[in-house]
Amino acid sequence: MSVSFDIQPNPGARSDAEVAEILASPGFGVYFTDHMVSITWTKGQGWHSATVKPYGPLTLDPSAAVLHYGQEIFEGMKAYRHADGSVHLFRPNMNAARFNRSAARMMLPNLPEELFVEAVRQLVQIDARYVPEAAGEHSLYIRPFMIASEAFLGVRAAEEVTFLVIASPVGPYFTEGVKGVDIWITDEWARAGEGGTGNAKCGGNYAASLIAQYEGYEHGCTQVMFIEATGKDRVEELGGMNVFLVSADNELVTPALSGTILDGITRDSILKVGEQQGLTPVERRLSAQEVLDGIADGTFTEAFCCGTAAVISPIAGFKSKKGEWRPQGQAFERTIQIRDGVLDIQYGRAEDSFGWLD
Ligand code: COI
Repeated sequence: MSVSFDIQPNPGARSDAEVAEILASPGFGVYFTDHMVSITWTKGQGWHSATVKPYGPLTLDPSAAVLHYGQEIFEGMKAYRHADGSVHLFRPNMNAARFNRSAARMMLPNLPEELFVEAVRQLVQIDARYVPEAAGEHSLYIRPFMIASEAFLGVRAAEEVTFLVIASPVGPYFTEGVKGVDIWITDEWARAGEGGTGNAKCGGNYAASLIAQYEGYEHGCTQVMFIEATGKDRVEELGGMNVFLVSADNELVTPALSGTILDGITRDSILKVGEQQGLTPVERRLSAQEVLDGIADGTFTEAFCCGTAAVISPIAGFKSKKGEWRPQGQAFERTIQIRDGVLDIQYGRAEDSFGWLD
């Protein structure tokens, strides 16, 4: 599919000095680059009006369906700067494919994968000076999203939709860094149930996770872990990331893709890098009780969470109303080895033996 982009440079773009100041201390998702991409879809016409334009507020009719019924999806991906100055995306086709799976679930139109990737490349190219130097975990976080922009209050699939891409230079998602986060296991709130939207990357999943997330904060935790909604005691995922356990006999265990959790691209990369490092990747059903018993008896020696935003962050402990469990491996040796393995590919410090870089 060939769509040409109308490029409208931002006359109010920041100076190099202003960009340098932001890159010195970017935080996470606080600052945005000078441009954004917008492409419109209209029923009967398809995708049109592809534009790279100055970053700024959207004009939306107050009756736009997304504002009422949440017909919306998004992706999270990053661009990395290598030591030679080149800039690379990581497995962008995986994001494009997942975006379309989410779109199908939310009755949004399919966006050709090559158009998704091209839109991301256009933004990274015009705002390349916002991609931080390869230091720490700094990168350019890219947020493609699709919203039902049609002005109409009937509950049906929107007939006008807008796809947008924005980008934000970022540092680590967690201020704790690699010292490990505590995870709250909620027995009150569920994130998703079978047949629901758990495996779609839609805003509503994250809005619904907030109440449990705040319950976690009250107990001194950074993230919350959800159990399947129908009382099956099946570990799902955390508020905004997947979860892994490392066993004493070198298994790398993560909940299987049950249809209710997000098929993370970092999750998939970890399974492959872990296997390359000699671990046995295992995707299976895990109960919360098994996780906690396994930590208590030393079956599981380490735990970590992962996502594009979170990268790979060690879990120092799990807490629930019943108590507190801390894995023995508080030096997080395996976790750090896997984390380095993935980051080294992303930042070009190791051979890209899987062919993941774009
Ligand atoms: C990501 O990891 O990119 C996400 O979309 C998760 C979000 C909580 C920041």
